[in-house]
Amino acid sequence: MENIDWANLGFGYRDSDFNIRCYYKNGEWGELEVSSSNKIEIHMSATAIHYGQEAFEGLKAFKGQDGKIRIFRMDENARRMQDSSEGTLMAKMPVEKFMEAVRMAVKLNEKFVPPYESGAALYIRPVLFGTSPQIGVKPADEYMFIVFVMPVGPYFKGGFQTTPFVIMREFDRSAPLGMGKYKVGGNYAASLVADKKAHELGYSNIFYLDAKEKKYIDECGAANFFGVKNNTYITPKSSSILPSITNKSLMVLAEEMGMKVERRQVPVEELSTFEETGACGTAAVISPISRIDDYDENKSYVFSKDGKPGPVSEKLYHKLRAIQYGDEPDTHGWVEVLD
Ligand code: PLP
Ligand code: COI
Repeated sequence: MENIDWANLGFGYRDSDFNIRCYYKNGEWGELEVSSSNKIEIHMSATAIHYGQEAFEGLKAFKGQDGKIRIFRMDENARRMQDSSEGTLMAKMPVEKFMEAVRMAVKLNEKFVPPYESGAALYIRPVLFGTSPQIGVKPADEYMFIVFVMPVGPYFKGGFQTTPFVIMREFDRSAPLGMGKYKVGGNYAASLVADKKAHELGYSNIFYLDAKEKKYIDECGAANFFGVKNNTYITPKSSSILPSITNKSLMVLAEEMGMKVERRQVPVEELSTFEETGACGTAAVISPISRIDDYDENKSYVFSKDGKPGPVSEKLYHKLRAIQYGDEPDTHGWVEVLD
C-alpha cells in the first residue's frame, strides 16, 4: 500500500482493496460478493446510463483513540437509499443487507481507516443503479448495488475554517415536487455548472433558493444550511432538499445543549439577523461560513470577520466529532462499533 499522508487528505477518489457487490435479478437480491476490481461491466443501454436510474449514499467510519472503528448512523443511510429507490422505481436494498455490506466493506479495508490523530475518516459510498437495457423510458428489471470506501479529509478546503458561499438566482437544483429530496445522480449533474461558476468566483459553493418563489434558502449542492441566532438553531424546511442525517443529528445535539431548534422556511433577508451560519453534511461535517454574497442583489452577509467559526458551530462540531470518534459516550445509539 502506498504511504498515505493521513493528515493532509482532501476529499478525492482513492482506490481501496475491496468492494462489496450485490445483484438484483428475477425479482430478488443475490448474496453479497467481495470484489477486488474497481471496474464494472454493464449493458450499454442500462437505465442508469440513459435515464439516470440510480441513487447513492455517503457515510463515514472513524477510528477512535481505543483503536476501534465506529460507523455513524448507517441505518439512516440504508433507509434513505430505500426512499431514493421509491423515487426512481428501483429495487429496494433491504436495510439489514445494506448494513452488512457496509460492515464488510469497512472490515475488509480496515487498513484504509485513517488513524484517530489525523482527524480524517473513511468515506463509505454505497451506490445502486439499473443495469438492464431499456430504450423506452421505463425502469430496469435488474440492479446492481456496490459499496466502496476511501480515506478522506475535509470536503471544503481548510477543514473547520470559515469560507464564503454565494446565492445566485440563475440556477435551480431541484423543483418543489421534484427529486431534490432523493440522493440521485441527476441532482448532482444539475449542480455542476452552478458549482463551477461559484468556484471560479472564489466561493466554496452556491446556496440554491427554492425554485418556485426564489425567496427561501434551500441548501447547497452537497450539504444542508443552518443559521444560529438568539440561542436558536434554524434550518430550512423544504420539499426540495435532501434530509441530511448530519443536520438531523445536529438538531438533537443543539436541543441537548439548551438551544431552541426551528425547522422552517428561511427567507434570504433573514441572513442579516444570523450570528453564525454553516453548511452541514457527511462530507462537509460542519463547514462554517464567513459570508454569503447575494450575487444578483449585490449584497453581502458577513458572519465572521476574523475567519474563525462562531462558538455554537464550534461546540456542535466538537460534540458531533466526539460522538463519531468515540471520545464521548454514544447516548443516542448512533454509532456501531465494529468487532
Ligand atoms: N444535501 C445534499 C444535496 C447532499 O448531497 C448531502 C450529502 O449527503 C447532504 C445534504 C448532507 O446529508 P448527510 O448529512 O446525510 O450526509
Ligand atoms: C456526502 O456528504 O456524503 C455527500 O454525498 C456529499 C457529496 C460528496 C456529494
